[in-house]
Amino acid sequence: MQCAARSSGRVMLNEPRNDFARPVRKLATITASLIFGHATVYTYIRGFMPQLVKLTRDHDVAVITIDNPPVNAMSPGVPEGIQTAVQRANEDPDVKAIVLIGAGRTFIAGADIREFGKIVSGERPRLSLLPYLRSIEDSQKPVVVAIHGTALGGGLETAMSGHYRVIAPTAQVGQPEVKLGLIPGAGGTQRLPRLAGPAKAAEMCTFGDPITAKEAHDLGIADSILEGDLLAGAVAFARRVAGEPVPRTRERNAKLQNFDTRIFDQLRELARKTKRGQRAPLAAIDAVEAATKLPFEEGCQREAELFNECLFATESKALIHVFFGERTVAKVPGISKEIKPFDIKSAAVIGAGTMGGGIAMNFANAGIPVRVKETAQEALDRGISTIRNNYATTVSKGRLKQAEMDQRMALITPQLGYEGFAEADIVIEAVFEKMLVKKQVFLEIGRIAKPTCVLATNTSSLDIDEIASATSRPHMVVGTHFFSPANVMKLLEVVRGKATAPEVIATAMALGKRLNKIAVLAGNARGFIGNRIIGPYLREAQFLVEEGASVEEVNQALYDFGMAMGPLAVDDLTGLDVSYYIRQEFKRFEKPGVRQPLVPDLLVQAGRLGQKTGKGWSKYDQNRRPIPDPEVAQLIEKTAREAGIQRRSISQQEIVDRCIYALVNEGAKTLEEGIALRAVDIDITYVYGYGFPAWRGGPMFYADTIGLKDVLARIQDFERQHGPDLWAPAPLLKRLAEQGGSFEAYDRQKGSAAAD
Ligand code: 3HC
Ligand code: NAI
Repeated sequence: MQCAARSSGRVMLNEPRNDFARPVRKLATITASLIFGHATVYTYIRGFMPQLVKLTRDHDVAVITIDNPPVNAMSPGVPEGIQTAVQRANEDPDVKAIVLIGAGRTFIAGADIREFGKIVSGERPRLSLLPYLRSIEDSQKPVVVAIHGTALGGGLETAMSGHYRVIAPTAQVGQPEVKLGLIPGAGGTQRLPRLAGPAKAAEMCTFGDPITAKEAHDLGIADSILEGDLLAGAVAFARRVAGEPVPRTRERNAKLQNFDTRIFDQLRELARKTKRGQRAPLAAIDAVEAATKLPFEEGCQREAELFNECLFATESKALIHVFFGERTVAKVPGISKEIKPFDIKSAAVIGAGTMGGGIAMNFANAGIPVRVKETAQEALDRGISTIRNNYATTVSKGRLKQAEMDQRMALITPQLGYEGFAEADIVIEAVFEKMLVKKQVFLEIGRIAKPTCVLATNTSSLDIDEIASATSRPHMVVGTHFFSPANVMKLLEVVRGKATAPEVIATAMALGKRLNKIAVLAGNARGFIGNRIIGPYLREAQFLVEEGASVEEVNQALYDFGMAMGPLAVDDLTGLDVSYYIRQEFKRFEKPGVRQPLVPDLLVQAGRLGQKTGKGWSKYDQNRRPIPDPEVAQLIEKTAREAGIQRRSISQQEIVDRCIYALVNEGAKTLEEGIALRAVDIDITYVYGYGFPAWRGGPMFYADTIGLKDVLARIQDFERQHGPDLWAPAPLLKRLAEQGGSFEAYDRQKGSAAAD
């Protein structure tokens, strides 16, 4: 959509450009020095102000255009620019009404998130957007806000301080601050309930999900949905309301009366369950509740207190780290934008088992036709029927239309042979985790596939280079490690072999984005990033039960820490046979005499494979709920006694430290070996693939928040107790701790070294 102001037919108030820029600069200088007390900021604003906010005129309507690519964030200079432009439009006798619009692809996507870190570190003093938005609301002439793309956070708050909102049908609005560990901090918790009612406002601020233009209109957030040219429609709308008394959101109190006051406690209960361990969702509810109890100004004050509390908490630092981390992992040093990915128009998957079926669904969901090959009709039928059942469940929950399901099923072609594979742009192998089987499959597809076809393997542990050696084109081979269930889990680990071509890596990374995944690049080493690091974590969980903690205590401690599931519950979910086979495969890497967990093999021998057999570390009822099993407790105790392991009671803190620091220590080794490009790649892998709480930022960021000196000291304790084979500190961790460094700073240094 093209929303930038067109100059034809309009008087440019700032023609020549510097006429507008000069007073704005002057004002901005004063404002900036008041706010920031910072001479350098003046230069910043002076340099950028004319581009950030433009004031033009369409006859009697002033048009204020925010032009701060890529997403029109409220960076320094933008709020000041809007304020000044509104003031100028009010002073101009020829202007009857004002339109506020965003240039480019979106309205304002929120406050500039990069500024928060600077405020917290003291680099910038705190800045409140409230006075700027107040000046929009105080405008004597009506301000019509035209929304396209997304009006999020401070963007929606800006929109609500206008007198009217018109919206493009495809636009979305929301208060997603909670996803950054924050609450709306520019009056959103006070204005939104006045427009949408307290219940919907509290829900939007607590969970942060955006709503559509239609919902915004139905709720009273938007006054009109405008088809066609948004700017022209907004100008026409502004002309219609010119001269009428302006409705100010802060004065619209009708919806604050007569609502069900129980909603706040109901939401709190829901937030405690679904946003376990997080403070911001509860703070958001408190702030919206304040809107129903306090006058507007006092409500804003309460909001500001809660916002600041959240801003300085670790939760928001961690979630902001994850926000930028998601975007950082997509940037691979050495794979520049000039390296163009291959276009993926059709795909093929080999194997219709647990993973193959899920992978095929990803392609169908993205509208890409996909062939699915199996060895036997029965396995093929089973795989396709699982896919159909998965879709049918989504349809029954109302999250997919039957017609959409039919379309997606029609994109999947089941088959037993290789017909059509020669046209596929990518083939993903998802057969048994056996090197010989995989090499045979790669030998076959290497002969059939076209030269530009990407040959991908979903192996979770095998050597990509050895698999690639079965083809005559190892440069086309790459690992695409999906996580189970592949149609749900967000993580895609892209594994680079030693011969993988940059275009192939770029293709796999771009494919991840297209399939709505977060793709992280990993090196080709045992377990890549994720499964390499999970090893010591699981090992410690298993040692802990042998040393005296119960299965339930171990699971509960990590669950309370924020993990999606306890480690032994994860073991039961993936299947103890799976880890058993991986252990067999990697036995040759084990150092003789180093302690290994004893119980897992015994559980497998007893047929306790986890949920799939109804029992593993725990028993499972029909609804797959775990029940403590005294048989397992006895088996553990007996095994520990026979092995001479001294049993003791173990604190929750020790359980968490042993498991999480094992992750951190192995993570540091993975980082130093270059298997992970940056610490943040490990964090994102763990948040999106292993249920690590995003609000703790991932294992490496978590270690930073504890302080690497303390983490090292604890690891050295464990080394003294359990020996250097298991607990020798990673050299990188040791170095960073001794230098007073952090993984985040290490990433920054690496990043700037790469840029140099
Ligand atoms: N501040 C600073 N940078 C931002 C930003 C923001 N609010 N939103 C996006 N960006 C950056 C991204 O980091 C990215 O940078 P990069 O190209 O260097 O990696 C670039 O803009 C483009 O972003 P995306 O790749 O995410 O672009 P998409 O088109 O996929 O998505 C979006 C656009 C939906 C706007 C998405 O970026 C988004 O959700 N942004 C965050 C929105 C948000 O959380 N707003 C609330 C901020 S907090 C706030 O407003 C507090 C207030 O109450 C006071
Ligand atoms: P699975 O046993 O459920 O499915 C494998 C399927 O491949 C079977 O249906 C089998 O009939 C078929 N198959 C075997 N040889 C074939 C051939 N030559 N041609 C066509 N089909 C063939 O196994 P699963 O769990 O789907 O695993 C597949 C791969 O994905 C493995 O490499 C595994 O390590 C990996 N993986 C598994 C995860 C999981 O949680 N199950 C997670 C991530 C990766």
